[in-house]
Amino acid sequence: MLDKKLIIAEHDIKKRVNELGAAITRDYRDRPLVVVGILNGAFIFMADLARQIALPIEIDFIRVSSYGDKDHSSGKITFTKDIELDITGKDVLLVEDIVDTGRTMAELIKFFAARKPASLKVCALIDKRERREAAIDIDYPGFTVAHGFLVGYGLDYAEQHRHYPEIYHLLMDK
Ligand code: IMP
Ligand code: MG
Repeated sequence: MLDKKLIIAEHDIKKRVNELGAAITRDYRDRPLVVVGILNGAFIFMADLARQIALPIEIDFIRVSSYGDKDHSSGKITFTKDIELDITGKDVLLVEDIVDTGRTMAELIKFFAARKPASLKVCALIDKRERREAAIDIDYPGFTVAHGFLVGYGLDYAEQHRHYPEIYHLLMDK
């Protein structure tokens, strides 16, 4: 069993998610918005964030996989489930758990931009800059974390730990 250290408490997440929801509500007022969650990691964040957006939004999910059981990106991104809504001419907001190297988000932005949305923005709960390779503009960042491997609130290590209401640093014995 790997050790873990609490880094973001449940009430801090709640407060930040409320702020993000309020900002999104302000920015998109009276515009039809499609909110796209990136599975699996964003499922908890998406559920909480969506309930803080006071607009008539449409919701869809896409699933990509870039990780094996390891703590570093395999470099290869596979789309395993597409969205079902037509986003042409609509405002689209991508909701991601964490941007690390930025490679996954860079691929997603290319993939979505090709479908000609009216606009495309990114909301990520965690902006982890230590290993950034692709320059990504995160329009709605939740928390900036300098380094480490995080679990909880949707974030996993080998599909475990996703269900915690708070976020931890996983202490790897290396
Ligand atoms: P990127 O392509 O390196 O930016 O990786 C993005 C994906 O890797 C995220 O969607 C996460 O699923 C996963 N990931 C990156 N860092 C972490 C972490 O610290 N904990 C858990 N998953 C992570
Ligand atoms: Mg993951």
